[in-house]
Amino acid sequence: MSVSSVFSASAVTDNKEKFAKLQEVIERYRGMEGPLVPVLHEAQEIFGALTLDVQKYISEALNVPVMQIYGVATFYSQFTLKPKGKCKVSVCMGTACYVRGAKKIQDKLVENLGIQVGETDKDGKFTLEATRCVGACGLSPVLLVNDDVYGRTTPDIVPNIMDKYRKA
Ligand code: FES
Repeated sequence: MSVSSVFSASAVTDNKEKFAKLQEVIERYRGMEGPLVPVLHEAQEIFGALTLDVQKYISEALNVPVMQIYGVATFYSQFTLKPKGKCKVSVCMGTACYVRGAKKIQDKLVENLGIQVGETDKDGKFTLEATRCVGACGLSPVLLVNDDVYGRTTPDIVPNIMDKYRKA
């Protein structure tokens, strides 16, 4: 299958290199047993998310119904259908963090970033998420921004932390 056989000219032009990479991945797994999950993993690395265009492309290339791909992509938590922001902001909602005010941290982030949990802002800068215990209960409540860990956070310091990433 050629890249251009599935999408409109603009979709192919915008993501030509990425779809070409995806095609290489598909060729690598073609004929192997159970290629769908590894192809989806690599597709997500290439595109940042398994968008509908990506799902349709894989569907045609592997001759797998889109609904089946959607089912797999939504079943496993490591897959995402929407691109995430450059900064993944996560509030630990594990028990220790929750009882020490994680919800107030989360509420402050919702206010500061202007998005709800699970959303990405329109600039693609921030994605706000909730996470389970990250194993740093002694530092609760814990806030993570990508790989940076902030312990004993309070709502008051949330704007300063976010400003640091806005300016980065
Ligand atoms: S409950 Fe938040 S780090 Fe353990």
